[in-house]
Amino acid sequence: MRILVTGGMGYIGSHTCVQLIEAGMMPIIVDNLYNSKKSVLARIEMLTGVMPTFYEGDIRDRAFLDKVLAENNVESVIHFAGLKAVGESVEKPLEYYDNNVHGTLVLVEAMRAAEVNSLIFSSSATVYGDPASVPIMEDFPTSATNPYGRSKLMVENCLTDIHKAHPEMSITLLRYFNPVGSHKSGEMGEDPQGMPNNLMPFISQVAVGRRGYLPVFGDDYPTVDGTGVRDYIHVVDLADGHLAALNYKGKEAGLHIYNLGTGHGFSVLQMVDAFSEAAGVEVAYQVVPRRPGDIAECWADPTKAKTELYWEARRTIEDMTADTWRWQLNNPNGYPDV
Ligand code: NAD
Ligand code: UD1
Repeated sequence: MRILVTGGMGYIGSHTCVQLIEAGMMPIIVDNLYNSKKSVLARIEMLTGVMPTFYEGDIRDRAFLDKVLAENNVESVIHFAGLKAVGESVEKPLEYYDNNVHGTLVLVEAMRAAEVNSLIFSSSATVYGDPASVPIMEDFPTSATNPYGRSKLMVENCLTDIHKAHPEMSITLLRYFNPVGSHKSGEMGEDPQGMPNNLMPFISQVAVGRRGYLPVFGDDYPTVDGTGVRDYIHVVDLADGHLAALNYKGKEAGLHIYNLGTGHGFSVLQMVDAFSEAAGVEVAYQVVPRRPGDIAECWADPTKAKTELYWEARRTIEDMTADTWRWQLNNPNGYPDV
């Protein structure tokens, strides 16, 4: 089974390529390397013994996509490519809408022309906005408060309309909660450029001594200890969720929507403690004002994915922290440039 993986050199895409290969499928990777490095390919080969086909290029380039699809007998597309930093999206809305919304439309046009009918899209729990209650189910109302979130919601809406017009298509929207962790080998992980935006990479850079302390964005939320609570999910469990979606829904015409989360929330300070334990070092932190736009708590009801995709997250908070730490120690500066 040949699967086109857009953004396959990135954090979630690279882990998914490893799981696809291990399950006997062949990823064809398209990535413009905007937020990833070519050396990821060698890591995929090191972990699986297989060097996937890689095309360096942009999903907004229709002629390029037509060529990739003509050269490969693709059955399904997993679409990770896009921009993902909330703060940056406020500064650069044009780039976000162009990459995330326009990019997806060009991809679907190319798929239609090549008669590829199966698509899995990387959506986000951000589409639930500030939820009225937790745990969050797939039929909760959606909303967005920033250009990144709006771009994800726009793509979900576009894909819903496209499915109505072309009901023979199988379109799966996977709403990820908070992906963290690394491949257990310590050879593959999250490699943010510059200051990390998300909690886990920030904690691990403090633990390894690259940064002095973690700023904790507020300790006055109505949560277990006042700090924000999220549903952290191990990236390999998340990757496996894509395989489950592919296996159980990839060939079934329809619009399929699933939360991919664990169903459990951890606070910022609980994550700091878990990481300190895994790494055997104190993670220094300072409470600072709330980050604008943050919500108090957010976790998934993952029952639908369990019932329909026969998938559930298996890895623990100890796996998430220990695997992140192994990656951080082995690769203190992330992936090599070449
Ligand atoms: P990432 O930045 O590590 O990976 C995205 C990849 O897409 C990168 O390798 C980048 O170079 C590539 N890319 C970007 N624009 C492209 C374009 N126009 N053409 C070709 N390639 C392009 O991000 P990630 O964390 O792996 O996230 C993957 C997807 O999952 C994104 O769509 C993101 O919005 C979504 N998502 C991520 C999270 C998260 O916390 N990481 C949470 C929810 C949803
Ligand atoms: C972020 C994104 C969201 C995306 C989600 C999943 C923002 C504003 N939102 O949300 O769109 O869907 O990731 O990837 O970026 N924290 C600190 N100090 C830090 C970093 C984070 O205290 O240096 C806290 C946050 O306030 C939050 C928790 O840690 O309570 C998790 O933060 P983060 O990793 O950024 O994820 P989300 O806030 O869920």
